[in-house]
Formats: sequence, C-alpha cells, structure tokens
Amino acid sequence: MTTAEDQSVSGTSDAVTAGSHATEIARSGAATFRSGGGAVDQQRAAAVIGAALEGIRGAIRDQKVTYEEFDAFKRWLIGVSDTGEWPLFLDVYLEFEVEKVAAQTQDGSVGTILGPFWLDGQAQLDSPATLPMRDDEPGTPMILAGQVTGTDGKPLAGAKVDIWHTDEEGWYSGFASKPPAGNLRGVVTADAEGRYEIHTRKPAPYTIPLDGPTGQMTLAAGWSPWRPAHIHLLVSAPGHRTLTTQLFFTGDPYLGNDVASADKPELTLDPQPTGNGSEVRSDRDFVLEPE
Ligand code: DHB
Ligand code: FE
Repeated sequence: MTTAEDQSVSGTSDAVTAGSHATEIARSGAATFRSGGGAVDQQRAAAVIGAALEGIRGAIRDQKVTYEEFDAFKRWLIGVSDTGEWPLFLDVYLEFEVEKVAAQTQDGSVGTILGPFWLDGQAQLDSPATLPMRDDEPGTPMILAGQVTGTDGKPLAGAKVDIWHTDEEGWYSGFASKPPAGNLRGVVTADAEGRYEIHTRKPAPYTIPLDGPTGQMTLAAGWSPWRPAHIHLLVSAPGHRTLTTQLFFTGDPYLGNDVASADKPELTLDPQPTGNGSEVRSDRDFVLEPE
C-alpha cells in the first residue's frame, strides 16, 4: 500500500494529473449510460438552486462566517477550477446523496457511486477474461466471478461487466502517471448463461490527491482522505437499467470511514484462497431491473 506521503511526492501535481483528465471526461458527457438531458424547468431550477444557496447562506448565518473566511472560500473555489478538481470534489462529497435518491427507485442489486475515474473505450474481453496488466503487475491475484440475471431470475446472456480499479499502490490508470494506459480496466462479456469470470489483482485503499484543493480542504478539517479498497463495476444488458456499483473487502481499515461515503455493507467481498499460489476468489451475482 502507498502512504499518503508517497502519493503527494511527484513531479506533476497528482491533483492536476487526475483532475484535468476527469474534467475533460465530465465535460464531454461520456457517461451516456445515465445521461438524462432535456430542458430545465424554471420551477425545478428555482427549487433546487434556491435550496442549495439557502443551505450555504444558513451555514454563513449559523457559523457567523467572516470576510476572511469568505475570501478564503473564493480562493479555494478558484483553485478547484484551476486544478480541474470539480469532478473529484463533487464525486467525493456529494455524489453519494444523488445515488441514494436514484436508489429509491431502483430494483435489483445494490449500487453506489460512479466516481470520476471511469473511462470509455477500454479492452473488450470475453469471459473468462484477464484484465490488461503489466508483466510484473504487483498484488494478490484475484478472481471475481458470478452470474448476471434479470429481476425475474432469468440469466442475461452476453451481459457486459465493465470493471476498473486501482493497482496495488492505489493508482488508477489514465489518471496517474505510473500505470500504463488501460491497466486493470476492461469490459467483459458474459457467456450464454450470463456468467462472467475476471482475473485481476486485488486493489489497494486509495487516497484522494492531497496536493489539490479537495485534499487540502479534507486535511484542514481533520477528516480522513482515504477510500477503502474497491472495485468499480458497470453491469449492463440490453433492455435493462445499467447497475453502477463497487465492491469492497472485509477487514479493510477504511470501511465505514470512506471519504466518499460510498461503501455499503451489502457490497463487501470476503475473497477466499483458491489453492493456486496466493490467488483468491470471490463470487458475486448481479441482478438488473428491466428498463
Ligand atoms: C474519487 C476517487 C474514487 O476512486 C472514487 O471511487 C470516487 C471519488 C475522487 O478522488 O474524487
Ligand atoms: Fe474509485
């Protein structure tokens, strides 16, 4: 595992490396699987924006915010823009509440946040699949396998399992300079019974970049900047609502104290040794609701 200190020591700022690419992706609206779009209703705009602004005004009144603090807040916001950290900040501190609202109308497997590090156009693989990785990819070899069905229990032939996670040092390919492009990312097509099997490495806990405004704010408040180790998944099949979820690991020191508030007890894996060297395996089925 990398320490927070290791992650903040590098030539280019980690915040800018991760933030600028995440901003580019968010701006492009690449996550089309959940885009709604459409015109903004004036009443809705007034209700939501009004409530958000009133929340901040309430904090100013209750906390008797000073001009010094207001000016520091302005500079901090400008820093969030300069580093491209808006997607990181929003996905750590607000996305989980949006996901909870979405979950109120969702059937099937439990979901959680997408986060800022999904990438389109990754390796297309057939199950059983090994994710793209370096010849000497560090970490415990891990198999994740299971079946994708509908809420009616019928297997979803050819379901897609889009998977991405950090390497054993806590870095995401595409958002940090260390791992090569496409490392530990792929879209795996399940077989005719909706079964999938993915060979990868166990990921490590992740700290948000500490050299940018989101990390600095987190440390200034004395909060933990860590996320428990997790595997991101988008599970999809034609005619079904795409499931956005993550899987965590029992015994992780950051479970229950996730900076992104995205871990849920239903999403915890307890991988068991397969007997093949240090390899471990977890089985996890997914249930998708009809669209
Ligand atoms: C962030 C990072 C993640 O890996 C994630 O899943 C959610 C948010 C972040 O740095 O903002
Ligand atoms: Fe993540």
